[in-house]
This record gives sequence, C-alpha cells and structure tokens, in this order.
Amino acid sequence: MSGDALFPRDPVTLGPGAVHLPGWLSIEQQRALVDACRAWARGPVPLRHTALPGGGVMSVRTVCLGWHWLPYRYSRTADDVNGAEVAAVPHWLVELGRSALVSAYGEQYEASGYTPDAALVNFYDGAARMGMHQDKEERSDAPVVSLSIGDSCIFRFGNAENRGRPHTDVELQSGDLFVFGGPSRFIYHGVPKVYPGTGDPATGMSGGRLNITLRETGLAG
Ligand code: SIN
Ligand code: MN
Repeated sequence: MSGDALFPRDPVTLGPGAVHLPGWLSIEQQRALVDACRAWARGPVPLRHTALPGGGVMSVRTVCLGWHWLPYRYSRTADDVNGAEVAAVPHWLVELGRSALVSAYGEQYEASGYTPDAALVNFYDGAARMGMHQDKEERSDAPVVSLSIGDSCIFRFGNAENRGRPHTDVELQSGDLFVFGGPSRFIYHGVPKVYPGTGDPATGMSGGRLNITLRETGLAG
C-alpha cells in the first residue's frame, strides 16, 4: 500500500476557482493516460522542445491535441515542427475534463457545457522546469484542467499581476488534479522543480513527469 493511501492528502482551495484535488486519478486511469500520451508523442506531430522567440528552447517537451500551441498563439497545424495537423482531442478526454470540473467545483458544473478543444501534454525530465507564465492565448475564460502523472513537482501558483510574489508552492504528485478557473484563471504559474525518482512505476512511467492541461481556446473552426 502506498503512503498516500495511508495518509490521504486533503483537497485544498488555493484561491477562488483554484482547487487542488490530490490523488484524483486512479492508477488505472494514470496508466491509460500514459499509454495515450505515448501514442500522441509518436505523431502526427512528435513531442518537441518548443523554440522560443528569444532563441532559447523550453526544457519541457510538448505535444498538443486539438490545437497546436506555439509561442504565443494556437494553430491547427504544427507550424514550428513539421507542419502536420495535430491529433483531435478524444471525446473521452473531454469527458474527463468535465468530470474534473464537477469534482473541483460541484455538480452544477455538469451542465456548464465545458468542451476543452485543446490539450497540451508536457513531459518533464528531472531537469525540466517551466517559468512563471499565464495561460492567455485562449479567447475563453473557461477553466484550465491540469492532470499530473509520474514524478512529483513543485507547482508555483502566483498572482494575477506579475511573475513574482505573492505565490504559493504546492506539491503536485502523480494522480493529482489542479483546476484553475474563475478569478484564478489568469494567475501566473510555473514549475520550478521536479523530484526525480518519486513516481510510482505502476503508472507505466519509469521516470519523469507528465502534465496534461485541457483548455477551451474559444477559437472557431
Ligand atoms: C502549464 O502551465 O502549462 C503546465 C503546468 C504543469 O506542468 O503543472
Ligand atoms: Mn500554463
């Protein structure tokens, strides 16, 4: 039995609309998501380090579904990779996003019509980080649903004004759900640290961290 099962972690609301639900995904769901991410990473657009306009590259590797994210816009085609059209967001992943909102916010969100049309799959090796940023390429203010699998990390949840303080550091572990919507939708956030070797191999991952964020882009077509 894992330590988490002996000492379950409680749900935490970090701010209005920002909810952390530890251990939301079962091991079976995590394993199925890992398998799906492996398939998405094979194509039609491969997992890649995103090139930044300043000349650097992101340390995480990313593959997108529905819409391809590149700095700083969405496109149907992976214009900065191989030009291919990205894979669709499968209906089961939309449903998972809907049930995440119900778990985070309550039954009334069943009818919210949440239909994420973009998913960003990020893979972090032990050295990868993500700097403080806002998710603001979307034209919708619908919540972002974040699912974590594999190694634990520090997720830094900041403020809506800038990359600095105040911020709260949250440990996201394998299976955790984090939802940020409402007044927290445009909060700066980032991942300053991953803890290598902390994931459960039962997920099918021998190392590293996967994070999947579901978003409504608000873009047509
Ligand atoms: C992101 O901000 O897009 C990813 C956050 C995470 O990896 O937890
Ligand atoms: Mn983000």
